[in-house]
Amino acid sequence: MTQKLENIKACVFDAYGTLFDVAASARHCAADIGDNWLNFSAMWRKKQLEYTWLRTMMGRYVDFWHVTGEALDFTMDTFNMQDPLLRARLMELYLKLDAYPEVPRMLANLKDRGIKTAILSNGSRTMLTAAVRQAGIAHLLDDVMSVDEVKAFKIDPRVYQMAVDHLEVEPHEVAFQSANAWDAVGATAFGFQVVWINRFGQKQEQMGQDILPKIEVKSLHHFPDIVCETEV
Ligand code: LAC
Repeated sequence: MTQKLENIKACVFDAYGTLFDVAASARHCAADIGDNWLNFSAMWRKKQLEYTWLRTMMGRYVDFWHVTGEALDFTMDTFNMQDPLLRARLMELYLKLDAYPEVPRMLANLKDRGIKTAILSNGSRTMLTAAVRQAGIAHLLDDVMSVDEVKAFKIDPRVYQMAVDHLEVEPHEVAFQSANAWDAVGATAFGFQVVWINRFGQKQEQMGQDILPKIEVKSLHHFPDIVCETEV
């Protein structure tokens, strides 16, 4: 990997799918869901995201916890499951998702170099606080930003603007990392330098070269190596 991010003052990370494993909740309940738990998990995530886009377009914001529950209800209905206890367990596990193994060391590396680090996520404040605590990474983050503040979900530009305002940087001084291809496109369109963490081996979006993320990697393992700070 020779490509670098130049003049970076802050590294901002998406949460779900990027730092935290969104499939972990369904995986922990695989015995109850059945052999098709992966399809179940994928549909839950897909609906969750669709609902964020729909709600933002309609101007009908409710927080990500609510959206996640509605998406789970749709998914359980589709799989013909009526099991309130399983529903409660899946939701509770969403507050305790596993962080990907490389995350703590990667954040510590950035902090050692004096680079600001933050999360910018659709997650509600409560969800993000729980996830960060569970992963034991609170001390490695300068800020944890929830869309609750602007009451709109990604890829609404107001969300990305929050990072600029909170961290007091220019958009091009932000390295933004997301495993979600659509989030990577939205953040590039906003003006961040974006690294697409393509953990799931997805195909690149087909939306025009000017809004495609600058760099693609498979995980966050070697991410600090491609970050060059602002020269002072
Ligand atoms: C987030 C979702 C998009 O954390 O993964 O914002």
